[in-house]
Amino acid sequence: MSADAAVEAAARLLDRARHAVALTGAGVSTESGLPDFRSPGGLWAGVDPMAVASLSAFQRAPQAFYDFYRRRLALLRDARPNPAHLALARLEAAGRLQAVITQNVDGLHQAAGSRRVLELHGSLHRAACATCGARRPIAELEAALDRGALPVCPACGGLLRPDVVLFEELLPADVYAEAEALCRRADVLLVVGSSLQVTPAASLPEVTLEAGGRLIIVNQEPTPLDHAALVLRGRAGTILPPLADRLLAAT
Ligand code: APR
Repeated sequence: MSADAAVEAAARLLDRARHAVALTGAGVSTESGLPDFRSPGGLWAGVDPMAVASLSAFQRAPQAFYDFYRRRLALLRDARPNPAHLALARLEAAGRLQAVITQNVDGLHQAAGSRRVLELHGSLHRAACATCGARRPIAELEAALDRGALPVCPACGGLLRPDVVLFEELLPADVYAEAEALCRRADVLLVVGSSLQVTPAASLPEVTLEAGGRLIIVNQEPTPLDHAALVLRGRAGTILPPLADRLLAAT
């Protein structure tokens, strides 16, 4: 199928959908200057995720943990929504997308105008106290790190950490349950920029399939679910705007 025919087919699927939902991964934010994880040059290139982004790392090697997140937070400062984020926000505003379920912690869907965003892995825009659970502005964590100090909770003195789900941690149960319900009800799930390697997020497309829904996958590289999807191979920032244009022109 030609790329244009695939976009046309995707627009038709979405046009007939009554409960379309998007599921995004780091690939939707690479055109905003944020590296993904598993592409060449991604965040896991030459880095052991368990040594910098796991609960054990936070507890046993906090300096390596904080160094890793400090670099990610610095990249976030200049990141702005790209045309892929904006296209998804347009589809939601036009009533063609119920929600965006994201594995990303960069807040760019909200910055693009998406209103119903489920953050499966938390957010780098918030800090949380590892002891009392208090939420704090991420700026407090960054300011402490900039001073060369460990970030501590003003309420209880515990260590502050980014409010993201680390390896060895469970996803927020309420958010995942809502995401699963949306995927079960979805007649079309639009998967954008994810390698679909990390569960439980990677299990969500199968929830849609098992309930009789269809998958559209927009991704630069193959994924394990391509065989069960309408695949649009390429960059999300190139594919989603014309897809949204076709769909909204049909409105
Ligand atoms: N357009 C389309 N696809 C892209 C683009 C782009 N501009 N840039 C990258 N991709 C694709 C890559 O080819 C890759 O298949 O996006 C996918 C990103 O996959 P990962 O790097 O594995 O990111 P993700 O699927 O979000 O990872 C899931 O793993 O480490 C954990 O917590 C981390 O949330 C993350 C989770």
